Amino acid sequence: MSILKIVEYGNPILREKSKEVTKISKKVKTLVSNLLETMYHANGVGLAGVQVGELLRIFVIDVSDPEGPIDPIVFINPKIIKKSGAINSYEGCLSFPKAYTNVRRYKNVTVKALDINGRPFIKEARDGELLARAIQHEFDHLDGKLFIDHSRNYFETTNILQKCNLPPVEKERLIEEKELEEEIVEFEKAHPEVIEKQRQEMEETQKQQERQNEKQN
Ligand code: NI
Repeated sequence: MSILKIVEYGNPILREKSKEVTKISKKVKTLVSNLLETMYHANGVGLAGVQVGELLRIFVIDVSDPEGPIDPIVFINPKIIKKSGAINSYEGCLSFPKAYTNVRRYKNVTVKALDINGRPFIKEARDGELLARAIQHEFDHLDGKLFIDHSRNYFETTNILQKCNLPPVEKERLIEEKELEEEIVEFEKAHPEVIEKQRQEMEETQKQQERQNEKQN
């Protein structure tokens, strides 16, 4: 197993579409091991093939408590077969060092994929839990889409990217999600405590980031 170099935003490969896996070959198995090792090394919760330069429809996710035992899930040739509801998601990406922003996501998703042995499985993630959001984030990578394309606030995201010395948002890539946005706004109006929770999540993420930076320096 080896730790691979993660491709950063600005590299055009991140906008390319990944190809279906036709055979779970030794090469594919090695890629999956390396993706996992690279993801854990970078303290991420998900990583897609394209992010290490392999345009194959594969991603890995582990949303378990970082202090507890690992619980990796491997998705090969995934398809999102059901999605519903809308939620604000404060996200980052290993290809966007230190940049976090608010994006729109579905609340519930059901995904069908193959596991590392080529066996089909179905995974359901509900209520906007981290797994639900991670699946959508990673799935997007396979189609050359990035989390910033779902930004709720173009100016805010542009500012954040600038601060992180990353290229700006490409306006023409922004995905119009009027219905999702309306549902999120309505929900936030009815539940001000949710905005407070998001603010805390944001602060917590920033603190974690600072702690990691201290460790590295
Ligand atoms: Ni990502």
